[in-house]
Amino acid sequence: MDEVSVLTGEPKPYPSNLWTQALSPRTFPSGRVDVWRVRLDQSERIESAPDDRPTPTPSATVLSPDELARARRFHFEEDRSRFSRCRSALRSLLAEYLSIPAAEVRFEYQPNGKPQLATVQNQRALEFNVSHSGDLALIAVSSERRLGVDIEKIRADVDTVALAERFFSRRERAGLQALADHLRVPAFYACWTRKEAFLKATGSGLSFPLADFSVTTHPDQEPEIEEINGQPEAGKKWYLADLPAIAGYRAALALESDGPHPPIEARAWN
Ligand SMILES: CC(C)(COP(=O)(O)OP(=O)(O)OC[C@H]1O[C@@H](n2cnc3c(N)ncnc32)[C@H](O)[C@@H]1OP(=O)(O)O)[C@@H](O)C(=O)NCCC(=O)NCCS
Repeated sequence: MDEVSVLTGEPKPYPSNLWTQALSPRTFPSGRVDVWRVRLDQSERIESAPDDRPTPTPSATVLSPDELARARRFHFEEDRSRFSRCRSALRSLLAEYLSIPAAEVRFEYQPNGKPQLATVQNQRALEFNVSHSGDLALIAVSSERRLGVDIEKIRADVDTVALAERFFSRRERAGLQALADHLRVPAFYACWTRKEAFLKATGSGLSFPLADFSVTTHPDQEPEIEEINGQPEAGKKWYLADLPAIAGYRAALALESDGPHPPIEARAWN
């Protein structure tokens, strides 16, 4: 059933309210954004996939030596496994888009750490971004436009006041404070994921001061960048979207776009 807004009773402005099960991309993502939801736990669904379809079990054998070394540096086995699963899922998906083997996908890193495809492999300007939290990862893929994605596992006991004080702009803090108590946690995560998705789209990480831009904070409000350095027009170069609800999580996507935005397809990979 569609989720409805607590304000208007209308369906929420998600690009789609469903995560469609899919094993691989149908076509190169020109003129659309694919957002893949990947389970990083040893999910029953991975083990119990119907016999007639291949099981997308991520395999660490596709990882590069530097990725394997990074995996080995995690102290806990659980973190090692989540990292490996996320990277191998990313490799498998990108390999499908590029029609090459997963082990041959090569990454380069921007100055603040954002991974991108090696230029030599990327004639068609494929863009992607990854986020993980808890047992889930999201992998957003498109072409030609910068994009960023963020997923956060919701903690009901999060100290919204202290974190907003530290990370949100004055305008966002005021928006949060004006809300009824029961909306504070959803609004906090709406604001956080929208903000983080934008930061990740730019690739700037924490070098972009978090107080220097504002997004809409109400969880049911249209996601938007309201201003960047006090300039409302600057925010219009970006499209923000909340992604379909996943119980216990909140997620958002940011896409470089100053005109009509391309369709967003939400797909469950495993
Ligand atoms: C990496 C960063 C951009 C996001 O970190 P995060 O929120 O902990 O993690 P996410 O799961 O959403 O994203 C991690 C993935 O983003 C990608 N990534 C790394 N650096 C990135 C960058 N500069 N820009 C965009 N994506 C980046 C990588 O694929 C990484 O996955 P990997 O660790 O498996 O390689 C981090 O440098 C950052 O800026 N954190 C800011 C957190 C914060 O204080 N936010 C305040 C509230 S808005």
